[in-house]
Amino acid sequence: MPRLVNKSAHGPQQVGDRHICMCGLSNNQPFCDGSHHKTDGEDEKKLYFYDEAGNREEIETDSGCSGECCGGCCQEENKPN
Ligand code: FES
Repeated sequence: MPRLVNKSAHGPQQVGDRHICMCGLSNNQPFCDGSHHKTDGEDEKKLYFYDEAGNREEIETDSGCSGECCGGCCQEENKPN
């Protein structure tokens, strides 16, 4: 079953001598495999979809968040307290 995951990191988190994937695109989870470079050039105000092959597609929205995948929590006014 497909699953949408909202990630905004563009690089790994170093833990000791390991690099943990924070972008969600690594094919070697939980470790970084360099796939985060596919996020290069992303516009922070836009929303993107990456397919299993790592191909990027911009999702058309007015605000950068459709709210359909996450309930709109990326919008400041909708964040839980
Ligand atoms: S941080 Fe995800 S592949 Fe590098």
